[in-house]
Amino acid sequence: MTQTVAARRHAELADQIRAHDHAYYVLASPTISDQEYDRLYRELLDLEKQVPELANDSPSQRVGGEPLKAFKPVEHLSPMRSLDNTYSQAEVREFVARVQRLLPNEKLEWTVEPKVDGVAINLRYEHGKFVLGATRGDGTTGDDITTNLRTIRTLPHSLKKPVSELPEVLEVRGEVYLTRAGFLKLNAQREAGDEEPFANARNAAAGSLKQLDSRLVAARPLDVALYGLGHVSESSQIHFADHTSVLRWLKEAGLKIPEKTWRCVSADELIQAIEELDQVRRNFAYETDGAVIKLNSIAQRERIGFTSKAPRWAIAYKYAAEQAETKLRAITIQVGRTGTLTPVAELEPVFLAGSTISRATLHNEDELRRKDIRIGDTVTIEKAGEVIPAVVGVVLTKRTGNEIIFHFPANCPECHSPVVRAVGAEEAGVAWRCVNPECPAQVRGRIEHWCARGAMDIEGGGEVLVSQLVGAGLVRNVADLYSLTLEQLTSLERMGTKSAQNFLDGIEASKKRDLWRVLFGLGILHVGAGAAKSLARHFPNLDAISEVAAIQLTEIDDIGEVIAQSIAQWMHQESNRKLVDRLRAAGLNFNSSIYVPRDAEEQKAFSGKTFVLTGTLPTLKREEAAAKIEAAGGKVSGSVSKKTDYVVAGADAGSKLEKALSLGVLVLDEAGFLKLIDSKVADE
Ligand code: IVH
Repeated sequence: MTQTVAARRHAELADQIRAHDHAYYVLASPTISDQEYDRLYRELLDLEKQVPELANDSPSQRVGGEPLKAFKPVEHLSPMRSLDNTYSQAEVREFVARVQRLLPNEKLEWTVEPKVDGVAINLRYEHGKFVLGATRGDGTTGDDITTNLRTIRTLPHSLKKPVSELPEVLEVRGEVYLTRAGFLKLNAQREAGDEEPFANARNAAAGSLKQLDSRLVAARPLDVALYGLGHVSESSQIHFADHTSVLRWLKEAGLKIPEKTWRCVSADELIQAIEELDQVRRNFAYETDGAVIKLNSIAQRERIGFTSKAPRWAIAYKYAAEQAETKLRAITIQVGRTGTLTPVAELEPVFLAGSTISRATLHNEDELRRKDIRIGDTVTIEKAGEVIPAVVGVVLTKRTGNEIIFHFPANCPECHSPVVRAVGAEEAGVAWRCVNPECPAQVRGRIEHWCARGAMDIEGGGEVLVSQLVGAGLVRNVADLYSLTLEQLTSLERMGTKSAQNFLDGIEASKKRDLWRVLFGLGILHVGAGAAKSLARHFPNLDAISEVAAIQLTEIDDIGEVIAQSIAQWMHQESNRKLVDRLRAAGLNFNSSIYVPRDAEEQKAFSGKTFVLTGTLPTLKREEAAAKIEAAGGKVSGSVSKKTDYVVAGADAGSKLEKALSLGVLVLDEAGFLKLIDSKVADE
């Protein structure tokens, strides 16, 4: 075939395939069978193999729709709120009593339905046609993910209802999820392709919806469950008396609704329904993390309304963490970057709360002894949401007598040097530690930590490359990274010129990072990002820190005696001084941009104020929000406590937001946060 003939046939095929893609993804009415489509597609790819430049303008480059540059923000027509949580039957009774007090002497009817553990979405139908789909975002504005949602085959593009029943504009609310089976398959594929598996089905669904290229989304087994309405245009002829009729209508319109719902008239019945749901929810295609209790009557709902975050007429009941039993096959030892030896349970793989678990941390030797965990034991493991699975205890009734007590090794499994009980450390008397600073596990750990996103943020410096670099003897400490050459990198297995150059560019860019990142990246025992920032606020540069004694360091916020000792010791050690000198010679920035001179600190707007950031903010990246807080003298903490002054919450904020609300900590959305900054900075 000549090139011209090939090009002509390619153009024909490309046109046909584009039309079929449109029919399939956009109109949801495929015009040919999958096999027929595959035949056309294969012919197209064959031609592209013969004449590679044909691929430049080909549907093979974009199957599910044009890749997007970024998602467009869209405002919801009515806000998407969240739900308050309850964790006990007593709290459910309290909720019922609370609503009854708001509606005295009225008969109340409730519904119970599964809390689908997916990603909240808002669908807009105009005259019955699906026109827009969005994520929740901050509740007011979400991302336009219409193209991605169109790839979900169970989401109808036209509602199956007579025109008279179709409101001009209708918002339908629900959840996109990945089926349990689909999640397992997807993770197996990712692992086979050397890709990081997703932690759970919800992350996988969220990650899928965030793909800018909908052809990748189309390949993910996503599904939907719709459970409510948002805005319904005024002129609409349809009026719903209760939630039960809303669900019925949605179902008749061709939308998928939650698997099963219960109707209840008392707290006792609600509790029974919650228990029944707990029994059957494991058979559902999606993960559930709770039950949602809703007041059935729409009129009653309207009378009691909403708090700023959630409806007063609905609440979520969260089920306790899921547990499973499995066999402990072996105990292995992991050596961390500070030399700490952590025992790890190697388990017979077991499916738990959405993923297959084969390893769980056993924390330390004391924990192992306290729980009397032996090799060969049947153990109970637990996993709550995204939390790392943990071994809760031994099922003693299943002991056979053949179990083996695990003895901690006397030598490091990596470098074979003798291990010691940690002294003076946080975990004093608990952790075994390898004190050989040259231990390859520690060397690798220190370099990975330096490259990590929260530290120097050097892209590519993950486990695999670092292990290769250390293995090949090219890097022994973080300063060695700064003399790596392109030739050295490309001599490594599976390392192409492009990746090598990217890594070098990342290393170069890291030279400009702020002092606190350097301090954190150095991996000084007990110096986390928080302590590193406190130091960098207090001192203008690294030299100023290395000169002070431990006692002076304890005067700084967040720096206790143990941390102060650790810093002073690190700074005075000859090998570390040499390392710092080499980093300086390589051109790293040792100056602090968040340094606040003493007398200025008192006057800063947020001095002494602690913020916690949670969820995804609509426009600000987390680091940007943190930088604003720190520039105004405030501190950013990772966890919510009574001492927290403000929580800034974005989309999909989870337990931190819940905790803030339960402690009565002030919660701001991004707009509120920006307003607060503006007002404070203006006051200064
Ligand atoms: S109703 C105004 N029903 O859980 C209240 N939400 O933790 C609207 N969710 O934001 C929510 N299943 O994303 C409702 N059957 C269900 C649900 C459900 C899952 C999600 C939803 C909500 C979040 C609150």
